[in-house]
Order: sequence, then structure tokens, then C-alpha cells
Amino acid sequence: MALLDDQGSVAQARPAELPGGVAGVYPLGSRLNAAGRLEVGGCDTLELAREFGTPVYVYAEDDLRSRARATREAFAERTEHFEVLYASKAFPCTAALRIFAEEGLSCDVASGGELHLALGAGFDPERIYMHGNNKTEAELRLALDSRVGHLVVDSFDEIERLGRLAPGGAQRVLLRVTPGITPDTHRAIQTGQEDSKFGIPLTEAGEAIERCAQAGLDLRGLHAHIGSQVSELDVYGALTDVLRNIGEYPLLNVGGGFGIAYTRHDKPHAVADYAEAMVSRVPEGVKVLCEPGRSLVGNAGVSLYTVGTVKAIPGVRTYVAVDGGMSDNIRPMLYGAVYEADLVERMGDSDPCRVVGMHCETGDVLVPEAALEGPRPGDVLVIPATGAYGHAMASNYNAVPRPPVVFCRDGEARVVVRRETYDDLTARDV
Ligand code: LLP
Repeated sequence: MALLDDQGSVAQARPAELPGGVAGVYPLGSRLNAAGRLEVGGCDTLELAREFGTPVYVYAEDDLRSRARATREAFAERTEHFEVLYASKAFPCTAALRIFAEEGLSCDVASGGELHLALGAGFDPERIYMHGNNKTEAELRLALDSRVGHLVVDSFDEIERLGRLAPGGAQRVLLRVTPGITPDTHRAIQTGQEDSKFGIPLTEAGEAIERCAQAGLDLRGLHAHIGSQVSELDVYGALTDVLRNIGEYPLLNVGGGFGIAYTRHDKPHAVADYAEAMVSRVPEGVKVLCEPGRSLVGNAGVSLYTVGTVKAIPGVRTYVAVDGGMSDNIRPMLYGAVYEADLVERMGDSDPCRVVGMHCETGDVLVPEAALEGPRPGDVLVIPATGAYGHAMASNYNAVPRPPVVFCRDGEARVVVRRETYDDLTARDV
């Protein structure tokens, strides 16, 4: 199950078995079974669709574990002083959090709700780091009462608020700064630029450090997160230099942002390369913290749908409509994110088409330029690499119940989050 190559990166098991160069996009160990159907975590995806219904998020459990291990090993090979935090916003799911707790990761939470999930999944509070640009007093109190190890303070207002709530001052904190670094990624997921709601501007870092001391907070380190799906590695060295210039502290948190493959054309850097870029300029003895979300869960999950209608408009295009859409994956609409799509029984690329959802919006397009093999009603369609920020950002738009989450391992499937019901939709009515 180790599935690691000699660089300490995650390697694909039997990639040749998936056609069209898409192996790196699907969960580790995915393959075509003897019936020619896509198998994830040893489970036939057509059978999963029949058993659990569609839409459904399916994860290969071994993939989650392998990537957690590979990430830890990539750092362990380079330094004794590191901590890998799982950014739980990418997939806030108890079963996944449990796996990452078991694999020895720490946890990044960005709200009271994420903190609640992390605690419930068994994370030692000492290993939890709480972020957020506008934590409420109630959230800060919950964190203090739960003895969360570190709070990442984000503003002058919060320094004052936390100082007031944590009298006696033993609370350990990191200070989040805006490093003024803009990585090459979608604007909506850049966070390191000066014009940002996150963090303290560099020019005010000194003042913020003084205020932390006045508030009696125990400032243990600095934090910055420059963005997500970051493709250039040298930004992490530049970031380390910016943070070191502010002052020397025991902890240096350089954020997340490791890129993943959404389509066959994406060639993300190896985890080892991110680790190297993150540790290379950190001074001896300083502990480097990173907090990846997407790279730990993104490729571990796929979404299964059922094709309901196929509408061919002569001379225009063919629309293939599935039983989900923007309510279970908002990323194509929010960021223009591009995905692959396949039919689980016929993984080929012969017929150009547009995969759309069932919502009452023209913009409800999951894959604008797909190529499927003779799509027809009743086919099960898979979109890979939906493991990060899919379930996490799902909504009930059009009063659509949110899909279940199913974990697969060695041919066994288990529901870890059940499907919402129509009764759930009215459960909060008073
Ligand atoms: N740390 C902090 C402080 C963050 O804000 C984030 C992501 C992460 C870590 C994890 O970043 P990752 O390793 O997953 O790139 N919804 C967007 C992504 C927003 C990310 C927000 N912050 C998407 O679907 O692409």
C-alpha cells in the first residue's frame, strides 16, 4: 500500500490500466476491472452507483493515507523539525479527519464548525491550529475552552479580543502576515497579496508583535498562506525570507497550496519538491509547518452521476445532463476549474459534448469540453479529482439534497456521510 516512488512522491499503482493518460487524475490504485469498468478502491463504480445512488462522492481510503504518509515522509527526509497540518476546509469530513489524525498529521481549522469536527474526529487539541480572519468571540472561547494548541491571530482587533478572553496570557499564537507575494494561480485563490482581507500587512508586523506582548499572548511564530494550487516553487523560498526578516521564532508556517492534477494535461510538482522549497531557507532549529488541503484529498475522490438526458443540437453541440451539478461542485462556475469526465463503463473520448447539471442556471456546466464514448441515458458518468472543495462547498441549491460520501478500500465500500433526505431540507423549519 505504500505506493511511494524513490523520490518519496506518491506513485500511481498500475497507471497503464486507465486509458488516455488520465491515471494521475484518478485515485491511487484506480483501474479498469475485468468487465472493463472503472474501479476505485477496489470497488466497481457502476455497482457503487447502483448501491448508493447518484450523485455520490467516492474516495479511495488508501489514497488518503498514502498522500498523508508521502507528505510527512517528504518533510521527514529533509528536517527533524516539521509538522504537517491537514487544512480541513478542503474536505471537512469526520472519517477523513480520523484517518489523518491516525496518520500523525496535525489539523488546520478555520471556523468553530471545523474545530468541532476536528475535536470530534479525535485530534489532540494540542495539534490543532485555528485560523480565520474574523473569528467570533464564541469561536475564540470554544478554542480556548478546548485548549487548542495554537491560534493564528489575523488582525489587531483579534489580538485585543483574544488578550481580553485569554487573561493570564498563556495562549500560544502565530501571527498571520500578508507577505505581499502573489503566486501564479486563479485570482480568487490568491491570498498573499497586499490587497487582502487576510493577515497583518508587513509594514505593521512589528507593531502587531508588540501588541501581542502587551495582550499577554505567547507569540510562537509567524504564518502566511500565499494561495492555493500554486505552481511555482520559488515563491516558498521568497516567503521564508520575508517571514525571517520579521523576526526569528520557533515556528514558521508557510501555508498550503500544493497543486494537483485535475486533467491529463496538468503536471503538478511532486510533494518532495514542495517540501524542499518549503524547508530550504528555514533556519536550523526552526520548526516548519505546512498546511496542505487539496493535495491530501483532491485526487482521492471522484464524483459519480447518472446521465439523464442527451440533447444533440445539430450544428451546435451535444448536451449531456447529469443528476447533480453546481450544488455538488461549484468549482467550475467559481474558478473556471477544468475537469475530466468519463463514462465508467466506456472510458473513451470519441464524442465531443458538454456535461451539464440539473440546476436552473445556464451556467450550471460541469465540463464544457468533454469527450465521452457514446453517452446515453442511464450511463454512470465520473468526474475525477473532486475530492477537495467539492463536498466542502456543496449547497442545497434548488433544494437538492447533498450527496453521500462513500469510502472504498480493498473492494469494501462504506458510507461515511449519508445522503441528505427531503426531510433534512425541512428539518430546520420552525
Ligand atoms: N491554509 C490556509 C490559511 C488557507 O487559507 C488554505 C486554503 C489552506 C491552508 C489550504 O490550501 P490548499 O493546500 O488546499 O491549496 N475553494 C478553493 C480553494 C480555497 C482555498 C482557501 N484556503 C478551491 O476550490 O480551489
